[in-house]
Amino acid sequence: MTDLFVSDRINAVVESKSVQLAGVIAELRAKGESIISFNVGEPDFETPEVVIKATQEALSQGLTRYALVPGEPFLRQGIADKLKRDQGINAKMENICVSNGSKQVLYSIFQVICNPGDEVIVPIPYWVSFPESIRLAGANPVFVESESGELNMEGIEKAINSKTRAIIINSPNNPSGRVFSKEQKEKLVKICREKNLYLVSDEAYETLIYGDEPFSGPAGVADQNLERTLIVQSFSKSYCMTGFRLGYVAGPTTFIKALNKLQSHLCGNTPVFVQKGAAAALENEKEIVTHMRQTFRKRSELAYELSKEIFPHTPKPEGAFYLFPKIQEELIAKYGSDENLALHILKEAKVAILPGSFFGQPGFLRICFSTNEENIEKGFKAIKECL
Ligand SMILES: Cc1ncc(COP(=O)(O)O)c(C=O)c1O
Repeated sequence: MTDLFVSDRINAVVESKSVQLAGVIAELRAKGESIISFNVGEPDFETPEVVIKATQEALSQGLTRYALVPGEPFLRQGIADKLKRDQGINAKMENICVSNGSKQVLYSIFQVICNPGDEVIVPIPYWVSFPESIRLAGANPVFVESESGELNMEGIEKAINSKTRAIIINSPNNPSGRVFSKEQKEKLVKICREKNLYLVSDEAYETLIYGDEPFSGPAGVADQNLERTLIVQSFSKSYCMTGFRLGYVAGPTTFIKALNKLQSHLCGNTPVFVQKGAAAALENEKEIVTHMRQTFRKRSELAYELSKEIFPHTPKPEGAFYLFPKIQEELIAKYGSDENLALHILKEAKVAILPGSFFGQPGFLRICFSTNEENIEKGFKAIKECL
């Protein structure tokens, strides 16, 4: 039989490694193994009742038809109001395009802003979909190293050249759990203004920050009129709506107009009943988020203390639900690599964690504490015993 053909473009892309690992874990579970998941970046809370209700009502009212490409006015206005209220951003409906999750809109963003051969600066460690979304646009990710997850501003500046189109950041960060400083965000906006670049700011973990300062992304800090910044946001994490597949981008109207052209051919629209659920999430944000943040803050403290006992170079998480310890020399010498160590922990301790190399930073581990305290204690105990 002749080999079926797939494009070079898709051959150049690697499947999400965390999704791959989820397959291995599912196989182990199917064999009856009980695995503690420190790998899945998904809140373990139920989707809020108000969201479910609003979605069901919308379905009962027959809101099941094709709809506007960038999203219905009620949701885009709700998002604009939220951006003003939380970050002082002067967004109008025309600055917003609602998408089928933030993953989907990240893909579209690079299709819209990059020509083949262009470059996008990606600080290490990065979320796994960033480089692949850039590659799918025929552009090249240019990685900027960091010692252990901090933002390397000097490296970013050095990486800019005439092919650079954008810098992408994610704060609170997956996988490092870091929150970048106000000064760093200000500086990034300044650089992007000077060099005529887009600043793509993935703010998926906005509501999960553990310090006293309220969240503000680069637009909130220094680009309130959205001249440079493309805010990428998701309903998945903050409102426990991973399966609803809803996100959005807020940015300059010229960019949004161009994006809408692509979205009209790519996905048409997001379901209106899902948008109704999302609008209810925004209206009830305070109640939804307050309890979840408190719970995650407590978990972050417990997980941090337990991780330090095993991996002394564990930075304290400032946001999101991840720890990102640097593996000590002795363990690297014993197991050879972060990937081998993660596999050993999976097989022996029955705890699933991800190696830092999945996120561009070998020698680290990403440990997700999106599970209850009992599981966190059990998981770290098992890891300790297997090393
Ligand atoms: C940084 C970051 N952005 C976006 C997403 C995905 O969001 P969505 O479910 O809206 O595609 C994730 C999920 O892990 C993430 O970690």
